[in-house]
Amino acid sequence: MELLTAVASGLAAVVLVSLVLMRWNDIKFGRNGLPPGTMGWPLFGETTEFLKLGPRFMKERRSRYGSVFRSHILACPTIVSMDPELNRYILLNEAKGLVPGYPQSMLDILGRRNIAAVQGSTHKRIRGSMMSLIGPAVIREQLLPKMDEFMRAHLAAWDGKTIDIQEKTSEMALYIAFRQIVEAESSTLFSAFKREFDKVYIGTISLPINIPGTNYRQGFQGRSNIVKMLSQLIEKRRAKSSVIYNDMLSLLIQDSKYQLTDEEVVDQVITILYSGYETVSTTSMMAVKYLTDHPQVLQELRDEHLAIRSRKGLMDPIDWDDYKSMSLTRAVIFETLRLATVINGVLRRTTEEMELNGFVIPKGWKIYVYTREINYDPFLYPEPLAFNPRRWLVKDLEHHNYCFLFGGGGRLCPGKELGIVSISLFLHYFVTNYRWEDVGGEEIVEFPRVEAPNGLHLRVSNYPS
Ligand code: HEM
Repeated sequence: MELLTAVASGLAAVVLVSLVLMRWNDIKFGRNGLPPGTMGWPLFGETTEFLKLGPRFMKERRSRYGSVFRSHILACPTIVSMDPELNRYILLNEAKGLVPGYPQSMLDILGRRNIAAVQGSTHKRIRGSMMSLIGPAVIREQLLPKMDEFMRAHLAAWDGKTIDIQEKTSEMALYIAFRQIVEAESSTLFSAFKREFDKVYIGTISLPINIPGTNYRQGFQGRSNIVKMLSQLIEKRRAKSSVIYNDMLSLLIQDSKYQLTDEEVVDQVITILYSGYETVSTTSMMAVKYLTDHPQVLQELRDEHLAIRSRKGLMDPIDWDDYKSMSLTRAVIFETLRLATVINGVLRRTTEEMELNGFVIPKGWKIYVYTREINYDPFLYPEPLAFNPRRWLVKDLEHHNYCFLFGGGGRLCPGKELGIVSISLFLHYFVTNYRWEDVGGEEIVEFPRVEAPNGLHLRVSNYPS
């Protein structure tokens, strides 16, 4: 009897503790006026379900609570907005206290002066400096010829090989950016730099546990080695002021308009490499994947590029006018970004309590401006699950109010055109030089990021053979 009572009271205690734990976050964060939703377990909130289910988590919550709901993910109380109008409002109104909300753990690795970590006048200055390095006029005059030369070399001699296109596009995206930043030393420094940069990259997407052996700790080590390498380069260039370097690092050091400190220069370099890395490489890989699956579109795209080549000598580089004439290529890139949803959304944080859509959002909460579902809206994109680049040619879809493929407002991607140029050049040399077939059976996962876990292998041969 005594044993039974002990078991019963033990069970009752477990149930009670579980009930308290289950309600803990709701009680802790609960207040009037919040959007509907649930906050999950203490500390972890609903992170496990979110990471496990990804887009399905969002859809399921939307069907239960509507397009704006609350949750607790990645250690923060968070409002998720899947409402296109509200998303637009949030992106356009940073000045009203809707600032970037990327995790501190990520910003610590990327640097205190990283563009996503700064606001107001500092953001304006850092962004101005960024645009002076990668804006359309600079691409046209300086970057495009160098990128063309690199791309031609990178895509040489693939005939008869089986390549992992994920690996190739990832090398391409990092190396092309690295060469723009430090041209003279790029070939000697690249492998050492890539090793450290990979640590930085993995560190920013890992659990923030700062103990020896974790990816997060290695992220910091990667950063500190990159800072050392860049500081040595900066010192060398200052010491030899008579030598002329024609690259971004020199422009950053000599910039008298925006006057970046050395710390800002280093963080600016890391930002340029980091922001353009995965976006450009994944989009290039997925474009190839969609083209492989849609031979008719591939043929039309190849025709566009062969027409450009027919106007030029064999070794003539692609120039700005050629690039501007690649309308189907641009459409393929936008359709790839849409259908693959390379970016699910962006993060914001409230700097004060505010009302949004009739709800009261507390100060310091995260807002996940979740833009993925807009990509599959049948009113904006009829037959949304079909790969149909031509839809981008008919209307001026690129500029519609809810096209957030490159973000929006004051944080609209400054590397948009540079990214599109890189992918266009990659496609140009790939489709004009090669035909290929998918080795087959390889999986692509879509969340938390788009990737082929075992690579995406293609058997490549010369075109025309
Ligand atoms: C296909 C390629 C790309 C895509 C899809 C893309 C997408 C985006 C998106 C959605 C944002 C908005 C982030 C936010 O609002 O929080 C953004 C911002 C940014 N992107 Fe890109 N990006 C691409 C290529 C590049 C490249 C090549 C660079 C090279 C420098 C770059 C640099 C940046 C920077 C610095 C920001 C932050 C801007 C700011 O905070 O003012 N991006 N990008």
